[in-house]
Amino acid sequence: MTKKTTIKPQDIVRDSINHIPLRITDTTLRDAHQSLWATRMRTDDIMHIIDVIDSVGYYSLEVWGGATFDVCLRFLREDPWERLRQIKSRAKKTPLQMLLRGQNILGYKNYPDDVVDRFIALAVQNGVDIFRIFDALNDTRNLEVAIKCVKKYGGHAQGTISYTVSPVHTVENYVKVAKEQIAMGIDSLCIKDMAGILTPIAAERLVSALVRETKIPIQVHSHATSGMASSTYVEAVRAGAGAIDCAISPMAGFSSQPPVETMLAIFSETHYNASLDQDALRQVCKFFLELAPTRQLNAHAADNIIDPEVLLHHIPGGMISNLRGQLAQQGALDKIDQVFDELPRVRADLGYPPLVTPTSQIIGIQAVMNVISGERYSLVSQEVKDYALGLYGRSPAPMDKAIVKKILGKEKPITGRPADLLKPMLPDATEGIDPKLIRKEEDIISYCLFPEVALDYFKWRALPTDQRPPIPADVELKKQRDANKPAPPSAVPFLAQADYDNISHLVDKIGSLSFSQITIQHGGSAISINASGVTAAPLATAGSAAPAAPAPAPAAGSPAKPAAVQAATPAQPVAAPAGPTINAPLNGTFYRSPGPGKPEFCKEGDVIEAGASVCIVEAMKLFNPIKAPFKCKIVKMLVEHGKPVKKDEPMVSIEKL
Ligand code: CO
Repeated sequence: MTKKTTIKPQDIVRDSINHIPLRITDTTLRDAHQSLWATRMRTDDIMHIIDVIDSVGYYSLEVWGGATFDVCLRFLREDPWERLRQIKSRAKKTPLQMLLRGQNILGYKNYPDDVVDRFIALAVQNGVDIFRIFDALNDTRNLEVAIKCVKKYGGHAQGTISYTVSPVHTVENYVKVAKEQIAMGIDSLCIKDMAGILTPIAAERLVSALVRETKIPIQVHSHATSGMASSTYVEAVRAGAGAIDCAISPMAGFSSQPPVETMLAIFSETHYNASLDQDALRQVCKFFLELAPTRQLNAHAADNIIDPEVLLHHIPGGMISNLRGQLAQQGALDKIDQVFDELPRVRADLGYPPLVTPTSQIIGIQAVMNVISGERYSLVSQEVKDYALGLYGRSPAPMDKAIVKKILGKEKPITGRPADLLKPMLPDATEGIDPKLIRKEEDIISYCLFPEVALDYFKWRALPTDQRPPIPADVELKKQRDANKPAPPSAVPFLAQADYDNISHLVDKIGSLSFSQITIQHGGSAISINASGVTAAPLATAGSAAPAAPAPAPAAGSPAKPAAVQAATPAQPVAAPAGPTINAPLNGTFYRSPGPGKPEFCKEGDVIEAGASVCIVEAMKLFNPIKAPFKCKIVKMLVEHGKPVKKDEPMVSIEKL
């Protein structure tokens, strides 16, 4: 067994050439399952193996932050703070690390400084030692407060370069960004290659320049997506990077990090020595090999191990599946190639932001809207507008002036630090919430970051254990497992698998109730459920029979007769409005509010100036204010607030003034 050394954050220094310690951060408990399992690892899973992981001899364990916080609350019904405390109580040897989105903390927008400060204070108290702090735009003004707070509360502040490829992202530019962060007091610097596009040669050049021009210890974080990451690590380490990010092999590869076992084998013949306990690694490997099939929502069998497309368009893997999903929602999946062509143009228009949360979402959806609407920037989400206003930070390169004018009209971008515009949030953060739901200060911070999701969780937590609705992640897993089951026996031959699943699920749910027979109208069938099982028959044709009472309960074991059910009356077609209308530019949800955060609704009789917003169509999680084409009066709202609308569906009938 190799000798283990415990390394503290402050120890990242380059030793003598004969024995250069190579620090390895294990991302298995954060990035790896975020990349491979849609972040669905449970605290229980972690607690089964944490002692062994802690004994491996890693430089640090990345266990918190990124998407884990949101997913804990939303899908796992877990308190993320409790996860952190539990890990800390057992991982005594290895520093714990988190990924922090600078002023965005763990959310998708900037938060005021008081929230950043308390979040970091509590994260340190609960067990985070190392904070990897990044900003999607590499705007150091968005990192400043977070770095200062981490230092104030005694943590290790790791600055970050969000790596991307563009005409303005040169080695000189990255060195400048690094120097700004060094001046702010960072202890080490991470090159964060979220898409897996950092080539070995580019890594060698970038690390060499940073080593030459700064004294800062360097760590490299890459993803195996394009297949280059392990070679990239080799070149980066040879150029002077002292630490790399890996995951245990069953949680590595694909869009996750390179496997730690592979990297150890590669470096075993060099001066670099990671001193990890191979026996412990084998135990960790075995554990995750067995766990993976029970947690993975999408098995990789059908995926390419290597995604060569990422090398062409530089779009991170997760973002591509999002784009496909968004196009599918709009019934425009056939336009995916047009979106791939449009995306780099949007990125250039908006000053080449790196594609990472939240800019990946903002840029991706604008590209989708430019393609779907047929006219570039005729439809602009509030988020893109905020981006153009500078509310996310400074774009890496100047934006296209004509496009900005089209997006902003007469509004002027801000020039200062975006968070300076935000009022402190903590004094009245939980106003209006039942105080019994808030148990500790950490809850207030969770609520500030994800108000709806946290409140939902608090309410769930407040219920007696036996009355809590099922955990969403369990429901998903059941669905997934059921979908993989072979088709049921042919009792109901013309039912689709999905119908049968829904019905079986219903039977599961009501299994404990006493009932003789339930008849459901589903699609074109009348489905009867009784003691002998499920049967179905085609529906009586529309308008034919009067509704029949459910058939009396048949004796157990005798086949149930399908009951006749009245067919649904077809919806009355809405009379087309006579005058001009404002139509939905894309599929989405209609809101009467003229803009996000504007409580007053537009109503019939209101006069709207040309270009002013009348309503919102929310699509792809972004809010799109819909503008009046000319000065007009609202004659009638044709859709109810909060209801779905289809592309080209009239939403508001108007009269030209
Ligand atoms: Co990553």
